[in-house]
Amino acid sequence: MGDADLVFQSYGRACNNPSFFEEFYSKFMGKSPDIRARFVNTNMEAQRGLLRSGVLWLIMHARGMSDTKIRALGESHSKKQMNINPMFYSFWLDALMETLEIYDPDFSAELEKTWRSVLRPSIETIQNMYDQ
Ligand code: HEM
Repeated sequence: MGDADLVFQSYGRACNNPSFFEEFYSKFMGKSPDIRARFVNTNMEAQRGLLRSGVLWLIMHARGMSDTKIRALGESHSKKQMNINPMFYSFWLDALMETLEIYDPDFSAELEKTWRSVLRPSIETIQNMYDQ
């Protein structure tokens, strides 16, 4: 099985638990008061649903899907729109890994490396669109 398929399966094992995205946001917001501040007026129930698809887009892109959704995220998170500083993505990825460790029973250090390398190109595309 290819790396992107291993990640897809891992996500399937983990994200069906309804508390997966609650735990993710709790960990992500715990990383910095600046991150927490960005979500004070957010409907977190809706946001958790949006992130469920967002992570899927990153995985599907690695599995060969076009980059249309990734570029849309790059635009919405850019300086001109939501102004999400590129440095926040490493916190985002760390929070995702910590959450997967709890919810994917088959998680391992090896699988974490696979996850990080599979998501890296899409995340870099989003980060590189910050100044556009
Ligand atoms: C909104 C996904 C990283 C902060 C959204 C939305 C999605 C999403 C799908 C809904 C709006 C849209 O489609 O653009 C992602 C993914 C990320 C990521 C897949 C990682 C690659 C981040 C980071 C931050 C952040 C690092 C830093 C704080 C926000 C905020 C909103 C948002 C503040 C708007 C919330 C609101 O509507 O009040 N994100 N995001 N995101 N994201 Fe991200």
